[in-house]
Amino acid sequence: MTARGRFITLEGVDGAGKSTHAAWLADTLRAMGHSVVATREPGGTPLGETLRALVLSESMTLDTETLLMFAARCEHLSQVIAPALARGDWVVCDRYTDATYAYQGGGRQLGADRVAVLEQWMRPALQPDRTWLFDVPLELARARLAGARQPDRFEREEAAFFERTRAAYHARAAAQPERIRIVDSSRPVAQVRTQLLAELQALVQEAQ
Ligand code: TYD
Repeated sequence: MTARGRFITLEGVDGAGKSTHAAWLADTLRAMGHSVVATREPGGTPLGETLRALVLSESMTLDTETLLMFAARCEHLSQVIAPALARGDWVVCDRYTDATYAYQGGGRQLGADRVAVLEQWMRPALQPDRTWLFDVPLELARARLAGARQPDRFEREEAAFFERTRAAYHARAAAQPERIRIVDSSRPVAQVRTQLLAELQALVQEAQ
């Protein structure tokens, strides 16, 4: 395979269904003959997974929470994502910096400017080539989460938090429409996959 790899991220509020699609996207790319690194944030490295466990369970100040998201991300970027892309692999990452803009910046009302400072500070400056934003109305996201495993610190937040998070995701997508594609994830999985496959094939073509 001579084509260079691309950096793909999946985003959306909890219950939007992105994790199901992340696994399917990685499998689809592998079936096309690409080397794929499927990973997630916060996490993706041993240290990152330790930070994930902390940040999803312990109470902490908003600044600490935001810094820990970026600490996990710095490790992930330098140890996993950048080396994979340098090898020519594709990277499929379940959440990345857009999640910090949405959850800490929007949901927790830190504001985009403070997140931007950390994004600019992190190196290498690497943006996803394509981000799919899985979008569902709040009631559907909540219904999908109900009955799932024990909710984490974020999943226990009230409705207004998720409305702010979703609005911040929409603002990101409106500002960067080329990179961030909105996927109406209230549709059946097969229909979502039809859209993803068409957009993925276009991305593969461009990469060649
Ligand atoms: P999530 O992908 O929803 O994991 P799971 O499918 O196992 O529940 O991610 C865990 C949580 O982390 C999610 O509620 C969003 C939150 N999060 C942030 O608040 N900021 C971030 O920068 C990232 C990457 C995640």
